[in-house]
Amino acid sequence: MTGLGTVAWPPAPIRTERLVLRESEARDRAAFIEMFASTEVHTYLGGARPRDELEHAVPEVPGRRPGLFVVELGGAMIGMVALDRRDAERPGHVRPEAGEAELGYTFLPEAWGHGYAAEACRAALAWFADASPGEPVVLCTQEANERSMRLAVKLGFTEVERFEEYGAEQWFGVVLGHGGRPPSP
Ligand SMILES: CC(C)(COP(=O)(O)OP(=O)(O)OC[C@H]1O[C@@H](n2cnc3c(N)ncnc32)[C@H](O)[C@@H]1OP(=O)(O)O)[C@@H](O)C(=O)NCCC(=O)NCCS
Repeated sequence: MTGLGTVAWPPAPIRTERLVLRESEARDRAAFIEMFASTEVHTYLGGARPRDELEHAVPEVPGRRPGLFVVELGGAMIGMVALDRRDAERPGHVRPEAGEAELGYTFLPEAWGHGYAAEACRAALAWFADASPGEPVVLCTQEANERSMRLAVKLGFTEVERFEEYGAEQWFGVVLGHGGRPPSP
């Protein structure tokens, strides 16, 4: 996937009830490494990477690209939400020219179960609805990833198709309506 590339970036930090969404900064590096090294986080994402490898490979400011928001709680990064362009060669599309905006989300395990991911994703989707009015957003997640499936449905995504990729059943959905805005909780 590639960054959005078509929107004004970065926006001013977005504040929600409990969170701040902002562009990545150097001080987020340790949290990025924590996420990339977590086996729990990567259960359905192709496996974690060794921490010593990450210490060398992760850039000074990780994840700095249009569409990627670091999610902060009380001044510390707890996860990230990203809108990227879906690769044309992958299965799962809703427009013939492909390159749809695709939502992804990854949070540190200690931040799960508090509704933070849903709160952050709603804010990112609302930002995108303003930045690119009327454009659909797609999402692909493993069917077996129950937390992710629950979140996708909560955000208003509806199923388009299911297919096998990376040796697993994938759920592919889209959010279209609400003037691009997802439903309230
Ligand atoms: C997918 C992922 C982001 C979901 O996180 P999550 O915390 O379960 O998602 P939500 O923000 O929707 O939180 C929902 C939970 O918070 C609970 N919650 C607690 N307080 C809440 C509040 N104030 N408001 C809303 N929900 C609240 C809900 O009851 C729900 O709990 P449940 O899971 O026991 O039913 C997280 O599991 C993750 O990072 N996974 C690894 C990465 C991954 O697989 N990403 C998918 C890529 S496609």
